[in-house]
Amino acid sequence: MATVPSLAATVHQRVSDALSAALPEAASADPLLRRSDRADFQANGMLALAKKLKGNPRELAAKVTEALPVDEENAVIAHIEVSGPGFLNITVADAAIMANLRARRQDERLGVPYKDNPGTTVIDYSQPNVAKEMHVGHLRSTVIGDAVVHLLEHRGEKVIRRHHIGDWGTNFGMLIQYLIEHPHELDHESDTAGAKDAGEAAMARLNRLYKSSRALFDSDEDFKSRARDRVPALQSGDPETLALWHKIVDESKTYFQGVYDELDVEIRDPDIVGESAYNDDLQQVVKDLEESGVAVRSEGALCVFFEDVKGPDGTPTPLIVQKSNGGFGYAATDLAAIRNRIGELKADTLLYVVDARQSLHFRMVFETARRAGWLPEGAARQLPFGTVLGKDGKPFKTREGETVRLVDLLDEAVERAASVVREKAASGGEGELTEEEVQRRAQQVGIGAVKYADLSNSMTRDYVFDLDRMVSLQGDTSVYLQYAYARVRSIFRKAGELRPVAHPELELAPAERALALHLDAFADTLVTAADEYEPHKVTAYLYELATLYSRFFENCPVLKADTKEQSENRLFLCDLTAEVLHQGLALLGIRTPERL
Ligand code: ARG
Repeated sequence: MATVPSLAATVHQRVSDALSAALPEAASADPLLRRSDRADFQANGMLALAKKLKGNPRELAAKVTEALPVDEENAVIAHIEVSGPGFLNITVADAAIMANLRARRQDERLGVPYKDNPGTTVIDYSQPNVAKEMHVGHLRSTVIGDAVVHLLEHRGEKVIRRHHIGDWGTNFGMLIQYLIEHPHELDHESDTAGAKDAGEAAMARLNRLYKSSRALFDSDEDFKSRARDRVPALQSGDPETLALWHKIVDESKTYFQGVYDELDVEIRDPDIVGESAYNDDLQQVVKDLEESGVAVRSEGALCVFFEDVKGPDGTPTPLIVQKSNGGFGYAATDLAAIRNRIGELKADTLLYVVDARQSLHFRMVFETARRAGWLPEGAARQLPFGTVLGKDGKPFKTREGETVRLVDLLDEAVERAASVVREKAASGGEGELTEEEVQRRAQQVGIGAVKYADLSNSMTRDYVFDLDRMVSLQGDTSVYLQYAYARVRSIFRKAGELRPVAHPELELAPAERALALHLDAFADTLVTAADEYEPHKVTAYLYELATLYSRFFENCPVLKADTKEQSENRLFLCDLTAEVLHQGLALLGIRTPERL
């Protein structure tokens, strides 16, 4: 499990060293190396540096060139020249490229390094609400959170997952009271079908319970007051009340798992630690905040005020930790959770994958916890995400103006994917696929498409949920990437005796170089994406990879190359491309079917 430094990193290091040798006062200056069309890499850090030191950038660049150590044996830099106002254009040796890729391929992690000092991160994501349907907002939190978990774990970080589900609050009084008075409301035959159908059936029962209890609540004053009285019974842990509460939560979990199953994400029951888990800590949170003066009573409510948080009329908007009737809200629970995560779970970093519309809430909660001494400065961070929009550019709703059910969306994505799969199979000469095979592939294609569309948009941006675009074979979609993967696999099915072997002695064609240099950047990309919590850097990288692969494939015959060595070398590039696509997509939670 060796780390394999990329050629970019090696070249960067050499130019940096040369820079310090040529100009000791520039010892820590960044040569600003990047990939370039003119050469393999271009360094333009000499410009700013010369300006700072009042020198001539071209002269400085020339000095750096002279100071570069020549190592004949293991030559990485094949050619270097000063160009334009003082850039360095750097070409690396073909042999170095292939040798580096060979080392990368030999490592099962493809040379991706572990973090130097891994810590513990608690990540709060996928937090649906009990007795309610999941919607596209929960989709985003689940998909982004899942990708971030994988990226961090891949870097060796210890990750503790927390699904802060909405399983507490006054609305449970109504549901539980109704169940007490209609004890058979949730009864059903045992569900033997798959997770998805069992989940759907559970949600249907919960919807029915919600509708009937709501109707009674709105029409019958006596029921309303019995429902309200049920809330303190729940809060104080009355056994009958709690048992029914559990029943409702369990029904919901059955439903959530059905959705997770279809979404192909693993959510583990012990990680589902909802709002209710912090119930016993809330009194203490309030007491400590009040005693330390971080929170003050205002019109009976316990509030925290902030200099810079004001309502439209200019009056300060406080964070309300306890309502004037004594009830606790969302904020109190989040504060108790922070104490638990930092204090007991010993987290160094807290992440919250939550809708950007809750940013003010988290800003206030984090600041309150910091003032109270529960949260080190900068240890908590929201990864806010934008809203999913309909084609009309407004938040995604059904024609009737209702929230779109996540399951319906996923079903539709799989259905569309099925027609893409059928078409592809027919045109690719695979003939009739069995319906089972179509469904299996469609599942991986459709769900992959939804995840990819979500991840490839930068997190904070709103995006339009457009299934036609998502399952398209053209453009920046997972289908395009899965197709690239399947194409490589099909070459291997036809390769016969030929094996992938790197041949550093061969000269590379331009399309091979471009592909190879990009392959070499995989580890660097993953490190940045993980360290900056930006899964979309991985999607952008993989899309570029598939594009470069296509170009390579069009320009460089693989099985019919001029020589056996060349075929082997190209097969090696194919193989590494497939492996990178596979590992990269797996980290994003997207499957790579062998055929499409
Ligand atoms: N259940 C909330 C919702 O559906 C999200 C919870 C976010 N996490 C948290 N710690 N507050 O909007």
